Amino acid sequence: MKKVNFLLLSTLLIFSLTSCTKKTDQNVIKVGEYGSLTGSEATFGTSTHNGIMLAIDELNSAGGIAGKKIKVITVDDQGKPEEAASAVTKLITSDKVAVILGEVASSRSLAGAPIAQRYKIPMVSPSSTNPKVTQVGNYIFRTCFIDPFQGKVMANFAKNTLKAKKVAILRDVKSDYSVGLAEFFTKTFTDGGGKVVVDLSYTAGDIDFKAQLTTIRSKGVEAIFVPGYYTEVGLIARQAKELGVSVPLLGGDGWDSARLTEIAGNSLDNSYFSNHYTAESKDPRVAEFVEKYKKVFGQVPDGLAAMGYDAALVLIDALKRAKTLTPDDIRDALAATKNFQAVTGVISFNDNRDAEKAAVVLAVKNGQFKFVETVNP
Ligand code: PHE
Repeated sequence: MKKVNFLLLSTLLIFSLTSCTKKTDQNVIKVGEYGSLTGSEATFGTSTHNGIMLAIDELNSAGGIAGKKIKVITVDDQGKPEEAASAVTKLITSDKVAVILGEVASSRSLAGAPIAQRYKIPMVSPSSTNPKVTQVGNYIFRTCFIDPFQGKVMANFAKNTLKAKKVAILRDVKSDYSVGLAEFFTKTFTDGGGKVVVDLSYTAGDIDFKAQLTTIRSKGVEAIFVPGYYTEVGLIARQAKELGVSVPLLGGDGWDSARLTEIAGNSLDNSYFSNHYTAESKDPRVAEFVEKYKKVFGQVPDGLAAMGYDAALVLIDALKRAKTLTPDDIRDALAATKNFQAVTGVISFNDNRDAEKAAVVLAVKNGQFKFVETVNP
């Protein structure tokens, strides 16, 4: 008798639990997010996540979208492409998200995007800049500029501002971002009459760059282009200084982390990199964002945080316009994004689902990033 009662009770319990979950499910829009919350690019994932959550929490506390709240399901891919692929598979097949935000690093977006495309789940990368990312297919978007532009910005800076004629390149061969950016830089720099006299490589995770730097030192270059991520760039800068290499290092958005100068010390002073945003901007949208972010997270937002915030805003705008909340209708609404005023610029998707936005050049001075110039596309 007791057993029967117990069975009955537990069945009832399970029933009510499942119907409860069903009910809440209808009141939420599930958004997946994958990023490097740990590993040697942990600040990329963490800042991006903070930016995303700031935008989503604002929306949810203002009532959500037609009464529905957004629920973000976040997976840490530890900065590994294989993990990025399984993160996207899990978000789609087990969490049943309607749309995905991520990744930051191009190689990881390139691992995740084919899966999103295959399942026809839209994916928006906040800041992957390699051209191949959105070429994966019509469900893949990005809210940032691409590397042919970024490479041109830094090649022109080397040529016109630094008056460099001979440069070296030191690239990460395992990173689609680094390899692509090195190529795009080379094209503009050599088309303009400059010479890349030495082009060497490393692999993410390396810690000793002295052999490459010793070769570079012997070539009498006026600048070294290092299109890598902050952990290796910080070490490269330190070791360059130890070897007496005193020419500026140049780089791209992958330098953007407070960790960069923690690792490099003062060895990056008078070096320059291109980025998506500067917290110094006089734009009232930027100032407002910086204030809000500081209140919640206690620090000045880096570019990744701003890009995460903007990607979430663009997604929210599309969700509000979407005919229904099916992945196909969300995709169509995303594709129709025009002149959306975000923190990092005005966002419209072109035919390749890329955003065409201005870049900024920043200088490293006393461990800080200082605004130098804005370059329009
Ligand atoms: N653009 C880089 C890539 O595609 C990622 C990145 C963006 C890193 C912004 C830092 C800041 O790999």
